[in-house]
Amino acid sequence: KKNLLPRTRKEIFETLIKGLQRLEYRGYDSAGVAIDGNNDEDKERFIKLVKKRGKVKALEEELYKQDDLDSKADFETHFGIAHTRWATHGVPSAINSHPQRSDKRNEFVVIHNGIITNYKDLRKFLESKGYEFESETDTETIPKLIKYMYDNRESEDTSFSALVERVIQQLEGAFALVFKSIHYPGEAVATRRGSPLLIGVRSKYKLSTEQIPVLYRTYLGLHLKRLISLIGNIENVKNICNSRMKRLDSSTCLHAVGDKAVEFFFASDASAIIEHTNRVIFLEDDDIAAVTDGKLSIHRLKRSASDDPSRAIQTLQMELQQIMKGNFSAFMQKEIFEQPESVVNTMRGRFCWGGLKDHLKEIRRCRRLIIIGCGTSYHAAVATRQVLEELTELPVMVELASDFLDRNTPVFRDDVCFFISQSGETADTLMALRYCKERRALTVGITNTVGSSISRETDCGVHINAGPEIGVASTKAYTSQFVSLVMFGLMMSEDRISLQKRRQEIISGLKSLPEMIKEVLSLDEKIHDLALELYKQRSLLVMGRGYNYATCLEGALKIKEITYMHSEGILAGELKHGPLALIDKQMPVIMVIMKDPCFTKCQNALQQVTARQGRPIILCSKEDTESSKFAYKTIELPHTVDCLQGILSVIPLQLLSFHLAVLRGYDVDFPRNLAKSVTVE
Ligand code: G6P
Repeated sequence: KKNLLPRTRKEIFETLIKGLQRLEYRGYDSAGVAIDGNNDEDKERFIKLVKKRGKVKALEEELYKQDDLDSKADFETHFGIAHTRWATHGVPSAINSHPQRSDKRNEFVVIHNGIITNYKDLRKFLESKGYEFESETDTETIPKLIKYMYDNRESEDTSFSALVERVIQQLEGAFALVFKSIHYPGEAVATRRGSPLLIGVRSKYKLSTEQIPVLYRTYLGLHLKRLISLIGNIENVKNICNSRMKRLDSSTCLHAVGDKAVEFFFASDASAIIEHTNRVIFLEDDDIAAVTDGKLSIHRLKRSASDDPSRAIQTLQMELQQIMKGNFSAFMQKEIFEQPESVVNTMRGRFCWGGLKDHLKEIRRCRRLIIIGCGTSYHAAVATRQVLEELTELPVMVELASDFLDRNTPVFRDDVCFFISQSGETADTLMALRYCKERRALTVGITNTVGSSISRETDCGVHINAGPEIGVASTKAYTSQFVSLVMFGLMMSEDRISLQKRRQEIISGLKSLPEMIKEVLSLDEKIHDLALELYKQRSLLVMGRGYNYATCLEGALKIKEITYMHSEGILAGELKHGPLALIDKQMPVIMVIMKDPCFTKCQNALQQVTARQGRPIILCSKEDTESSKFAYKTIELPHTVDCLQGILSVIPLQLLSFHLAVLRGYDVDFPRNLAKSVTVE
């Protein structure tokens, strides 16, 4: 502990595995690691690559089986890379998992988060140069391309980061990349475009600078549209690259007081490194960060007018225990039970960032509000649309990000566009944000992740402050997004005299939420019993309308995501237009019937279901004696103000999906085929 360095190979390996485990929620169909090795006889250094299909645990076991981690691989500096994958191109397998390599000697190895859209052209080009591909991934083009650049480099002392810079000029798509090479022992180079990447800095000493200057290379930018078109004269291109590249000025690099006293961690998410350091630098698109001789330097691929000339080291407030499971059997369960606190944190948290308040005047004058998101985040927008229309007196559109983009939806300068995303990294939502920015609309982010792409790229926004959410199926983020949007509505209506009574009603409803959520959570055992009756079913319908339509969509999504049962959220108003045909004695139907303006209409739907011998399980208000008469089973919930009822009614469905998944024997936190943060389109 006295000295941070040098670390042993074993320690590096353990750090990587721990980090991967914390990131497993981002993808988990296979995992791999590359660490330094050396030959005992000739002391020649090599890169040890171990990859395995399945979870990180399988990789860990494999490495212990294969490797003598205690061997005296005695290097001045150590640098390892590791990755857990969620397949985009190529099936989950050891070969397709990362790190991907340049050749059988592992001269260059790369891990990649994102997607390379022009990989087919690159692959064709590299194959024409004699490179043999072993995987089906888009990523494999990257280590091969860098090896090509290395083999054809003009001068012997071309730096590692200069090579990386050349490589990313050829890449289209989204990426966060970390490179390792036997030709540059102990050196790390990382870069990003469109996918998140941060650097954790851990130092025994006080760092000599808090702002890392960004360096610019004067690269008289041959931005090659398609490398393939240059097959004929690639040699020329290579020469130009070499001659136009200026050297880095190493005196401007970050360095610590004391030799080798700093450790750097590259990660796509702070949760991977938070147990080592809470001091991080968020990289921007086209930053290239290199650690050479224990010093970090960051430079830009190209200079643009809006560039900030430095990157600050920020201190994160996230605590490790916040991301641990505690006494619960799954993160999802823990997160469901955290909701009495997480909604309070949302209400009292850093509700505004980047001056949302400063933009209120502009927002009040806007043409319309457009709320854009995916999955659960989209449902939070559906859930609050009506109360937002009421409190803002503006038209509110809610949009699925992918569909919004597919339609080339017209967006105007006087529109206000909200981007709602737990992770702040969802590719579809991020693309929609960029689309709206291009059209000069005001953009507002609602995310749960400080420093995420969406929070950084929007004009202003809200941090929902729900705490880290690890379970792939979103729960506490949904209720916090819900609360945030309602609070935004309250802010917008502050000076509307006609709305004061309604505002007061909602504010007192918000105040009593935590107690009411606790009451709903106390129904857990009852819901478990219900799950025991239902878990062998193939299908489950969830029906409701008005304020609770979103509850049905979100409940059905939870059931689909983690139990793999077919489930559909049905708008009760549409029942007679199709879904009624599904109703019979066998089909389980959950109906959400609350004491709100839709109550009578919901009763009609209930009659229609029971008339077809359906056996409805009803979620209703405690004081509702009418509905329970027709129910096969009832779950009674505390009653709150109509527009907040959805926060309470979704919780039994979260719990039900959890119990169903456990009873069916599935891994609740890591459902098959899904990822927490979908950073590809
Ligand atoms: C993925 C997750 C969902 C989530 C959606 C949107 O599909 O599996 O649980 O709702 O992405 O994620 P975001 O981070 O943008 O809220």
